[in-house]
Amino acid sequence: MTAGSGLECLVYVSKIASSGLQNLHPTVRNILTQAQHLNARDNITGLLVFNSVFFAQVLEGEPETVTRTFGRISKDIRHTLPVIVLQQKISERSFGAWTMCARQLSQLDNDILNSMEQRGAFPPAYGSGALLLTQLQAIGRVHQAAFDRQAKDVLYL
Ligand SMILES: Cc1cc2nc3c(=O)[nH]c(=O)nc-3n(C[C@H](O)[C@H](O)[C@H](O)COP(=O)(O)O)c2cc1C
Repeated sequence: MTAGSGLECLVYVSKIASSGLQNLHPTVRNILTQAQHLNARDNITGLLVFNSVFFAQVLEGEPETVTRTFGRISKDIRHTLPVIVLQQKISERSFGAWTMCARQLSQLDNDILNSMEQRGAFPPAYGSGALLLTQLQAIGRVHQAAFDRQAKDVLYL
């Protein structure tokens, strides 16, 4: 997707609902299929990552659309306590190749993220939105090829 003026990104963290944890992979697959469909319509791009406790997601697009999308997401019972940690204007997209992609963080991913900053556990303490965005961008770069394939495979785990 092309970069445009008036773009913004929104980063949030939430807790995976206990019902979703019991069936994590099908749950995320369903979320991803739905997100890819709606985001293609709305010109939203981004990345969703998760471990056994948290989701963290970045949405990029026109400000009104990003806000509307997050408004729907925040009511979703598949997770709880969504907290926006960063919402800011951007000059270009960092995840422009993917209407949405998702990854379960591996131990290697955690090691990479933890090495980025001394206190940089995933997700960083609430409020460290800039660090979380940097972490999500790093995951995007490390797994770029896998995410590109995922357009067909729907989900790479
Ligand atoms: C962790 C998570 C991430 C989601 N990501 C998106 C997304 O990127 N775009 C989107 O339209 N819906 C996303 N959804 C789904 C929305 O919560 C919602 O179900 C969907 O937008 C349809 O909204 P509606 O049920 O109000 O029609 C996500 C849900 C969860 C739990």
